[in-house]
Amino acid sequence: MDKNSFDDKYIRWHEPTVSREMRHTKNKHQSFILWFTGLSGAGKSTLAHRVEEILFDTHHCNTFVLDGDNVRHGLCADLGFSLDDRHENIRRIGEMSKLFMQAGVITLTAFISPFRKDRDTVRSMVDQGEFIEIYCNTPLSVCEERDVKGLYQKARNGTVREFTGISSPYEKPLNPEIIVPTGELSLDDCAILVVDYLQKHSKI
Ligand code: ADX
Repeated sequence: MDKNSFDDKYIRWHEPTVSREMRHTKNKHQSFILWFTGLSGAGKSTLAHRVEEILFDTHHCNTFVLDGDNVRHGLCADLGFSLDDRHENIRRIGEMSKLFMQAGVITLTAFISPFRKDRDTVRSMVDQGEFIEIYCNTPLSVCEERDVKGLYQKARNGTVREFTGISSPYEKPLNPEIIVPTGELSLDDCAILVVDYLQKHSKI
């Protein structure tokens, strides 16, 4: 039984007849997870979508972006921002990313995902090399200065509680595959860093 198998008296793992390898052969590329993490306003979603465009248009890959704000309108609409809800948010996204990846899709996720343990749990759910952690390293001061959604100001005056970086922690990745200085480089230069990594590691 491999690590994905689940066995129980009444629930049995059904091995697919269309394998992931068959999907890779058909798609002409591998599938994996590009996990963008960073503070609110660090540029995760913007970068994930730009990288997706390049992979989709130029490299003809099957791709999909799972975006924090969007997923919280549906699958995770019942969750808030308490520590427990954030754990559950990332647990669901981890499982969903794995399903997308198993479907042969290059899956890009853009969630603050503030806790190392939660990110490492997702990493441990897939094989080595299939979870590529991308730290969007924009300093808090820059995110707060930009305050695109006006949430930092609301967090400072207490209207929004448990806000990441202000009143809730963010644990930086210790060993991410890629660090992108999203506060310094242009969007395209940031995207090139990611795409270069994928080419260098023969992922695309
Ligand atoms: S996570 O911490 O659980 O990974 P997620 O990425 O899904 O967060 O959602 C973050 C987005 O929700 C932010 O970009 C911001 O727009 C919005 N948001 C609303 N309230 C908060 C809060 N208290 N802390 C962080 N983000 C919040």
